[in-house]
Amino acid sequence: MFKLKATLAAAAALCLFSSGSVFAEEKVEVLHWWTSGGEAAALNVLKKDLESQGVTWNDMPVAGGSGVQAMTVLRARVTAGNAPTAVQMLGFDILDWSGEGVLADLNKVAEEENWDAVIPDAIKRFAKPEGVWIAAPVNVHSTNWVWANKAIFDELNLKQPATWDELITSLDKIKAAGYIAMAHGGQAWQDGTVFDSVVLATGGPEFYQKAMNELDEAALGSDTMKTVFDRMAQLRGYVDDNFSGRDWNLATAMVINKEAGVQFMGDWAKGEFLSASKKPGEDFLCFRFPDSQGAVLFNSDQFVMFAVGEEQRPAQEKLAMSVMSPAFQQAFNKVKGSVMARTDVDASVLDACGQQGQVDLAEANKSNKLFGSMAHGHGAPSGIKSAVFDVVTAHFNGEYDSAAAVEELAAAVQAAK
Ligand code: GAL
Repeated sequence: MFKLKATLAAAAALCLFSSGSVFAEEKVEVLHWWTSGGEAAALNVLKKDLESQGVTWNDMPVAGGSGVQAMTVLRARVTAGNAPTAVQMLGFDILDWSGEGVLADLNKVAEEENWDAVIPDAIKRFAKPEGVWIAAPVNVHSTNWVWANKAIFDELNLKQPATWDELITSLDKIKAAGYIAMAHGGQAWQDGTVFDSVVLATGGPEFYQKAMNELDEAALGSDTMKTVFDRMAQLRGYVDDNFSGRDWNLATAMVINKEAGVQFMGDWAKGEFLSASKKPGEDFLCFRFPDSQGAVLFNSDQFVMFAVGEEQRPAQEKLAMSVMSPAFQQAFNKVKGSVMARTDVDASVLDACGQQGQVDLAEANKSNKLFGSMAHGHGAPSGIKSAVFDVVTAHFNGEYDSAAAVEELAAAVQAAK
């Protein structure tokens, strides 16, 4: 008996050293755009989790907020027949890839772990199109937030603005005190992120849905949309001279460092405050974009799994299961700034902003005020998103006035449909 055991052990040891054996190294290559301090810290939670299970992590970061550049690199990799194991992706991009016959089928794992029962329909629509789970959702972000420097607010005796008019009054006071009122990076997706909030705040939830999800021509070309562009032009007056091209996390740093009063950004911004050891309620404030309370614009980061050889499947499935494990979702979202994709996980581990985010999400869902963010891939397919960005950015940079922008917007969306 002892001899047999020893022989088996020796054979196993030999297998470990011979390539292509059943004991092949378990590894995953993951393409993502999480390169800022807060994002990298959150990703590290996942890396560590897999490494503790003996899975080697090959990192494939492609810098560029909101993933536009990452999607270009992905296309080139797949065309070259060299798809990564898993790719961070947003809503409609997932649907685009689902029709191409290059993704893995996660149904077996999903059934064993009962994903159907714990992932809300608004996310499942993208993760499980046509009855097949192709992605593991890790979080839910929301874009209609304001991040404010508390010391500046205290110093100037400012209350959290609840309406557009109050917001403008606050921005005026911050500017008059010599601070940069609005921290912003002039990149199309950041302009689009602010636009998301202004559309919701100006037109209300139904208008957002009509214009940004249903792409309704009348809404896109309406007087309300002209007011939205007027307000975007107004906000342009609160950014500093060097805003053009600035990365979003550098804009967040301006709020962190008390150079700027507020940033209008999704809740990944919170990850930057946390990684700079700042505390919500003490160092910074989080509140809903004025006049948008009760509604939530969301986007969910998902890991889309690409078809890989049989030998890579166990590692790929481990990655999917890790992403979906309740303990992991808590640990990850605490750092990332988002809330849990699963509906059955205790949110009390999150800080005050995170808990508010989780409550807002549930309430918006119940009252039909939960909408996919246009700027972050959950409002419309990427061709339409780019068309919207082009108009919003051109207008923000003064290429045309609000009346022309409304016409351009309706025409560009129509052409991209
Ligand atoms: C979003 C993404 C977030 C965050 C942000 C900035 O689209 O969902 O996870 O990374 O872009 O890069």
